[in-house]
Amino acid sequence: MNAVQAFHRRSIQDRDQFWREQATAIHWHVPFSTVVDESKLPFAKWFVGGQTNLCFNAVDRWLDSRGDQAALIWVSTEVDQEQTYTYRQLYQEVNAVAAMLKAQGVGQGDRVLIYMPMVPEAVFAMLACARLGAIHSVVFGGFASVNLAQRIDDAQPKVIVCADAGARGGKVTPYKPLLDKAISLCTAPPEKVIVVDRGLFAFEPVAGRDLEYASLRKQFDGVEIPAVWLDSSAPSYVLYTSGTTGKPKGVQRDVGGYAVALASSIKHIFNGKPGDTFLCTSDIGWVVGHSYIVYGPLIGGQTTILYEGTPVRPDGGILWSLVERFKVDTMFSAPTAIRVLKKQDPGLLKKYDLSSLRALYMAGEPLDEPTAQWISEGLGKPIIDNYWQTETGWPILAGQPGIENVPTKFGSPSFPVYGFDVRVIDEQTGEDLGPNQKGVVAIVPPLPPGAMTTIWGDDARFVETYFSSIPGRQVYSTFDWGLVDEEDYWFILGRTDDVINVAGHRLGTREIEESINSHSAVAESAVVGIADQLKGQVAVGFAVLKDPSVLDAAGATQKLEAEIMKVVDEQLGPVARPARVRFVTTLPKTRSGKVLRRAIVAVCEGRDPGDLTTIEDPTALEQIKDSL
Ligand code: PRX
Repeated sequence: MNAVQAFHRRSIQDRDQFWREQATAIHWHVPFSTVVDESKLPFAKWFVGGQTNLCFNAVDRWLDSRGDQAALIWVSTEVDQEQTYTYRQLYQEVNAVAAMLKAQGVGQGDRVLIYMPMVPEAVFAMLACARLGAIHSVVFGGFASVNLAQRIDDAQPKVIVCADAGARGGKVTPYKPLLDKAISLCTAPPEKVIVVDRGLFAFEPVAGRDLEYASLRKQFDGVEIPAVWLDSSAPSYVLYTSGTTGKPKGVQRDVGGYAVALASSIKHIFNGKPGDTFLCTSDIGWVVGHSYIVYGPLIGGQTTILYEGTPVRPDGGILWSLVERFKVDTMFSAPTAIRVLKKQDPGLLKKYDLSSLRALYMAGEPLDEPTAQWISEGLGKPIIDNYWQTETGWPILAGQPGIENVPTKFGSPSFPVYGFDVRVIDEQTGEDLGPNQKGVVAIVPPLPPGAMTTIWGDDARFVETYFSSIPGRQVYSTFDWGLVDEEDYWFILGRTDDVINVAGHRLGTREIEESINSHSAVAESAVVGIADQLKGQVAVGFAVLKDPSVLDAAGATQKLEAEIMKVVDEQLGPVARPARVRFVTTLPKTRSGKVLRRAIVAVCEGRDPGDLTTIEDPTALEQIKDSL
């Protein structure tokens, strides 16, 4: 057994003492009395009786020792701007935003929705919410009005913070009009909208509702708002994620457990220490951005880089130039970004001094062997694949060089992370499987500190969705297939459900289908994820039309495909837009009416569709094949 495995074993067998030690990594205003309350499993409360605050741990705690150290460096290659905030300056900005939110009546337990590009004000707003005990819900900027409206209606925020626009690849992407549209679709509109006006997109403020960030900032300059001491299990934020139904799930997290998990992960998984510089190329709208752009590095006393831009502009060396300039110690990215770089001049990997960099961490989607090999040889640095989910908040499986440098295997996120009692389980019998047997990756409760505590506003759905799919056992299903090899290395083998992963972005096929079906010509549709060399997967839609004869006119097929893509683009945003939409007269279904998605995927990927005894109309699959 290596030290990583021994550490993990101790976290399960001597759990309470283990977490008592980890919990010393953060500041507690009131110490906790019970490590975990598991009297109502699968609900678990960590560090019961303790009081703390995420913002205090991320900002205030470092003022004395690191007040002049850079806390946040913002680099935008989209608007060619840069700005560094020391811990002291970050403290001032966050206090001013906390004051402006408070002035709008935001207090403990109120929700604040943040719909923003990668700008410092987004980080200030998140931390300001944490300071007040308000619950933030950040919505990814690539999502459009329908997605946004659903989230607003579910979270019912008192205030929304947004920007006029973001930019991607040099093109301005307006945010404010999408938000206005979303609010018009909502049943529970917010009282106030605070707009960061970047001067990228001209907009008309809505009288009585919209407020301008910069003028509020001036008004509250120098105001200090004390951090509100919160029970460890008070909600810190809600982050929506896609599942198999059309309705997104609000993943709710706590305060104390999350702070402890992140602080300990910075040390043990990322091998980091205060004063390090962390570059994570995710987006604040995703869980990786929450944990490893914002909270993790700051709770760890590090400098975090917030990068607005793509990996290829002005050229494919931009990320490495950031590593050189800011002496980045730890970098975190997604396989898609690296696959994009593979198409660039390989000399760019050697052009910069990367001596500060200890390792490149990658997560969000399967890391294929050619990509892992290419980047590991190109950089000459360890590549650390780590596997987790929005729900878990931090890695379930990972190399953990802060504990021991164990050799990695390509294609494997190495070993279970301490705290996660993770198993590979037979989906039919519910029994644990042995080496090299494929099964569902599941976690025996309690989920560790930092993991989701419930679905926002829906405890029953939390139990039903995550803890009810394995026969005879109340275990958390990741809905991923996996196996453990004879040397105890873990492998993730794709989703068991209809969730797809496009360029590291998790999407629900059901949501995309609902959007396609909203086009007036469409009767029904099926969306599947098809393997793609660059993006891992792409969404492909198959639509059945109410009146197939509309395709008879010259050019009608292309026109309709473009129209449907536009609908999805407008409703859900460009991330969800299918790469292709094809028209068929019937979908392959079982006799009971269930769409045979796995068979569609197999046909699209040129594989054998397997057992088709339950299919109602075998010609339907032929049509899928022909339509491609
Ligand atoms: O299918 C797994 C895949 O991404 C899903 C979670 O996506 P999301 O909630 O967006 O959280 C991403 C946090 C990193 C998982 O259920 N996934 C994530 N990381 C990996 C992965 N698949 C294979 N290898 C990984 N390292």
